[in-house]
Amino acid sequence: MYYDLPMGLLLEHGIDILSSQNMLREKSFIQHGGLSCYDHSLFVAYMSLVIAKKMRLNVDVRSLIRGALLHDYFLYDWHVPSSSNRNHAFKHPHYAYENARVDFNLNEKERDIILKHMFPLTVKPPRFKESYIVMLADKYCAVYETLAVNRMKMKAEILNSYLENTIKITREERE
Ligand SMILES: [Fe+2]
Ligand SMILES: [Fe+2]
Repeated sequence: MYYDLPMGLLLEHGIDILSSQNMLREKSFIQHGGLSCYDHSLFVAYMSLVIAKKMRLNVDVRSLIRGALLHDYFLYDWHVPSSSNRNHAFKHPHYAYENARVDFNLNEKERDIILKHMFPLTVKPPRFKESYIVMLADKYCAVYETLAVNRMKMKAEILNSYLENTIKITREERE
């Protein structure tokens, strides 16, 4: 299902995020099932687009993609035991938001997507349909990445090599 990825949309709206220094650091942080936080975020962005399309929802595609890509932008390895990593499930949306607002200009929807993606662990519910979509996509991907590790790793490798090539070509065109 990942072979027909809407890569054009992801690149059009998210190439600055996907090629940024801090986002690339996510490649070294494991999220679920041996997959990196970078790959997980990419899968969540893709799945969010699939859900919106399947449900025929009229969404703000740019905010949906950017919020999904940044929803886990907390930038640390949550498997390493430390006092700040305690209660990761509750705290990381806030850390992700704080990091994302420093590196990118976030609109209201992107902010809500990041801060509420762990609902119902967050007290306040999401405000926008885009936030609900990412919340669902995140949970779906977490389960899939945990249960189908090898398949997802293979897909992540294909995606990464495609992205690396595209980012390289885009950089060369700019220079
Ligand atoms: Fe998360
Ligand atoms: Fe996530």
